[in-house]
Amino acid sequence: MKTKAAVLWEVGTEWSVEEIELDPPKDGEVLVRMAASGMCHSDEHLVTGDLPFELPIIGGHEGAGIVEEVGPNVSWLKPGDHVVFGFIPACGKCPSCATGHSNLCDLGAYLGLGRQIADQTSRHHARGKDLGLMCLLGTFAHHTVVNEASVIKIDDDLPLDKACLVGCGVTTGWGSAVYAAETQPGDTVVVVGIGGIGCNAVQGARLAGAKRIIAIDPVEFKREKAMEFGATHTAASVEDAFPLVQELTWGQMANKVILTMGVGDGQILAGAMALTAKRGRAVVTNIHPALEIDVKLSLLDLTLMEKQVVGSLFGSGNPRADIPKLLGLYREGQLDLDGLVTKTYPLEDVNEGYQDMRDGKNIRGVLLYD
Ligand SMILES: NC(=O)c1ccc[n+]([C@@H]2O[C@H](COP(=O)([O-])OP(=O)(O)OC[C@H]3O[C@@H](n4cnc5c(N)ncnc54)[C@H](O)[C@@H]3O)[C@@H](O)[C@H]2O)c1
Ligand SMILES: [Zn+2]
Ligand SMILES: [Zn+2]
Repeated sequence: MKTKAAVLWEVGTEWSVEEIELDPPKDGEVLVRMAASGMCHSDEHLVTGDLPFELPIIGGHEGAGIVEEVGPNVSWLKPGDHVVFGFIPACGKCPSCATGHSNLCDLGAYLGLGRQIADQTSRHHARGKDLGLMCLLGTFAHHTVVNEASVIKIDDDLPLDKACLVGCGVTTGWGSAVYAAETQPGDTVVVVGIGGIGCNAVQGARLAGAKRIIAIDPVEFKREKAMEFGATHTAASVEDAFPLVQELTWGQMANKVILTMGVGDGQILAGAMALTAKRGRAVVTNIHPALEIDVKLSLLDLTLMEKQVVGSLFGSGNPRADIPKLLGLYREGQLDLDGLVTKTYPLEDVNEGYQDMRDGKNIRGVLLYD
């Protein structure tokens, strides 16, 4: 069939919205008509080259839609099912999946190439070339074919234009605070960078019982939004936050610091660790450029204060369990998804949406398909 998708052909260029050829689903695969896709900062890393995935690639990894057709041997999905995609597939069989860390599923190894998991070929083609899929999904498209390992079935009555955000940003941010940081009731938590991920780290910290949540972002609009999601204080930079956190905690500093900036910066780590308390933990959720290996960090301070630095992927949880859980919290009014969507766009305006993200105008821009 023919469908429309946003393709990145070269680093440093715009997304090209064009007609593509889509093959039917093969063994273990599913054809999904997309309803909506969030515009996460991670796709921007493809454009800048910070994430060196193979090109050309269809962007987008934060999507929801309706199953249109299932390939052979897909027993648990049928046409009409509403689904959210997980941006890391979960096979349910590898050691990570079997030990409750399906965010680290071994199938994640296929992300860099972006080809179908089953046979490493493409179902998506344009201009006589095979196309890769961001996170094996390619949600910047009206239709896509993905492996069943990437699919999570959700209740039919949930709004897909909000549910899509749980496929990456919400689960990543919330889990960074709840699972990776292990925020405890009464903790002081700092969140650095208030975008689609950071707002949800704020929400996760709030739901985990944090006493104080300090949101840091240079953009005033972001700081205002953070307060709506549960932050108790804000600062414009890590440096500005230092005296504030010092005063609020009587010098003990923050139990948890969660880094969710647009582009990770190794030079900011020393400042972030200065905000961290004895035995406190800094969580690195933001994506750093692949080639960056230098960080600024006092390792003496790390030892003497027993501080921890941990990485976190997809909120360090189990998307197949956590995505329905978070949608349940949304249904009960305890998690705000509606407030995350600042502006919606048709697929044709994907480049405008990313410009708005760069300009700090959006918590999340969402592409809507019809
Ligand atoms: N680890 C994971 O599993 C995972 C998943 C999704 C996204 N990410 C990454 O998380 C990061 C955030 O993504 P997003 O979609 O929320 O991005 P975003 O662009 O929506 O938000 C980033 C925010 O960081 C702020 N910022 C930039 N520099 C800052 C600084 N020096 N101090 C404080 N704030 C600063 C920006 O003003 C912006 O509000 C990206 O690097 C993204 O790739 C990681
Ligand atoms: Zn993402
Ligand atoms: Zn697995």
